[in-house]
Amino acid sequence: MKLNRSEITKIVSGKILQNEPMSRHTTFRIGGKCDFYVEVKTTVELKSLIKLCLKKKIPYQIIGFGSNILVKDEGVRGIVIRLTGDLSSLNFRLQKKSAVAGGGCALQLFVKNCADNGLSGAESLVGIPGTVGGAVIMNAGTKEGYIGSLVKSVTVMNEKGEIKKLDKKSLRFSYRGSNIPPKNIIISAEFLLKKKSKSDIIKNLNKLMHRRVKTQPFGFYNAGCIFKNLAGDYAARLIDRTGLKGASVGGAVVSKLHANFINNTGVATAEDVLKLIKNIQKKVKEKFNKNLELEIKIIGG
Ligand code: EPU
Repeated sequence: MKLNRSEITKIVSGKILQNEPMSRHTTFRIGGKCDFYVEVKTTVELKSLIKLCLKKKIPYQIIGFGSNILVKDEGVRGIVIRLTGDLSSLNFRLQKKSAVAGGGCALQLFVKNCADNGLSGAESLVGIPGTVGGAVIMNAGTKEGYIGSLVKSVTVMNEKGEIKKLDKKSLRFSYRGSNIPPKNIIISAEFLLKKKSKSDIIKNLNKLMHRRVKTQPFGFYNAGCIFKNLAGDYAARLIDRTGLKGASVGGAVVSKLHANFINNTGVATAEDVLKLIKNIQKKVKEKFNKNLELEIKIIGG
C-alpha cells in the first residue's frame, strides 16, 4: 500500500524526508534512497507510526547512527526511523548507581556522562559509534567488556506497537547478539554501574581510546569491523595473513591499519563493498578453510 507524507506528518513531530539518500545517514557514507526518513521524538509517536505501518503493510527499519550497516545502492523501501527527542534521553539515578538511556541516545554520550558522574562500567565502550539501542541489541563491546553485562532491564516496543519491559533474568547476551526479538525496538535501557573516582575512570577511558586510535582506522568512512571473529581465531588475522590489506574494488579498500575494516575512499558504492566482501570470504576460505560471517547488517535492495 502507498504511504503519503501527510499521513506521517499527522503523527510525527520530527524531521520527515522523502526519497532521502541513506548515504547521509550511514558512517560508510554509502546507500541509495529510502522512501521516507523519519525522526520520531516520543513513544506515543513511535507507537502510532508502527501501527500505521502495520495497517498499511509498510516495511520499516530502525537505524541508530547507521554505524554498523551497509545500505544497498537500490535504497530502502518503506520508512527508515531514527529515535530522537525523549527517545534519546539520558537520566542518572545516582543513589541507585543506575542510568536510564533512550534507545536513540548516543553511546558515547552515555560513556562520557557515566564518567562525569563517577560511575564505572561503561569504559570498555569508549569510541564505539552508534546508539544505546543498537549497542544493546547486538551486545556491542570489546575484550574489556560488553554492554550486556551492565543491563538491568530493557523496554521494547514490538511490531504491533505493544510495550514490554524485559528484565535481566529474561535477557541473554552473546558475542555480538542478544535474545531481543529482531523486530523489537528498544525504547530505553536501564544500566547498573559502580561508583569509582572520576579521574580513575577518565584515565582508563584515555588509555583505551589511545589504543583504539592506534589500531583502528579513525576519520575514515567505514562501518567498523566487517566480519565476526571466529571461535578461536580473529577475522582480522586471517584477512591479514591472506595478504588482503590494501585490496580494493572501486572505492572500497581493505584498511592497511586493521584488516577487518573496509574504508570507503569517498566514491564507493554498496556493490563495490559487497564484491570486496565476497573476494575476502573466498580467499580466506581457500587459504584457511574458514568461513567469515558478516558482523555488519546489510539492509535494503
Ligand atoms: N590483527 C592482525 N592484522 C590486523 C589487525 C589485527 O593480524 O590488521 C590481529 C592482532 O594482532 C590481534 C588480533 O588480530 O592478534 C585481534 O585484533 P584486535 O585486537 O584489533 O581485535 P579484533 O578482534 O580484530 C575486536 C572487535 C572490535 C573491537 C576490538 C577491540 C570483532 C569483530 N571486533 O577486534 O570491534 O573494537 O576487538 O577490543 O569482534 C566492531 O565491532 O566494529 C569492532 C571494531
